[in-house]
Amino acid sequence: MRIGIIGGAGHVGLPMGIVLADAGFSVTLIDTDEERLRTVEDGELPFSEPGGEPLLESALEADRLDTTADIGATADCDVVFIVIGTPIDEHHNPQMDVLLGVVDEVIDHIEEDTLLVFRSTIYPGTTNIVCDRLEDAGHEVGEDVYVT
Ligand SMILES: NC(=O)c1ccc[n+]([C@@H]2O[C@H](COP(=O)([O-])OP(=O)(O)OC[C@H]3O[C@@H](n4cnc5c(N)ncnc54)[C@H](O)[C@@H]3O)[C@@H](O)[C@H]2O)c1
Repeated sequence: MRIGIIGGAGHVGLPMGIVLADAGFSVTLIDTDEERLRTVEDGELPFSEPGGEPLLESALEADRLDTTADIGATADCDVVFIVIGTPIDEHHNPQMDVLLGVVDEVIDHIEEDTLLVFRSTIYPGTTNIVCDRLEDAGHEVGEDVYVT
């Protein structure tokens, strides 16, 4: 089983990816921050995570962890975690554009029987919007794709 993590070089996504790889899953870290991805590929963590580096090194050696900036990699994933934040504006209104843009890109690539997991902090109602977009794209949520 292959797991893709969008935001996979972040403080939540990266440790989660390393632990999942250590548990035996094949993990693809998908992130726009290519510098962080290069650091990870070199076996180093871009931030302090005690105990993380030996697990990262063994995941890389076992070929269970790879990285990419290409969101199209989600096409090869059975489970896709989304772990990017939702910024707020000066009035504390959520700025959903980036997250929903990512969701639309995932929908363009998603294969049948994929599980889409929102692991980041999201605004109430986000999963309903995502389910509507999946249905608009011809999917049947709960039947051919799954969202949590
Ligand atoms: N850090 C925590 O302890 C914590 C705890 C609970 C919840 N959260 C939530 O988890 C989410 C992520 O937090 P974090 O601390 O990991 O943030 P982070 O900034 O460390 O990581 C986010 C990652 O997402 C990447 N990213 C941003 N836009 C992207 C895109 N369009 N495509 C691919 N990658 C993209 C960034 O390059 C970054 O590496 C936030 O919603 C946060 O509120 C964080």
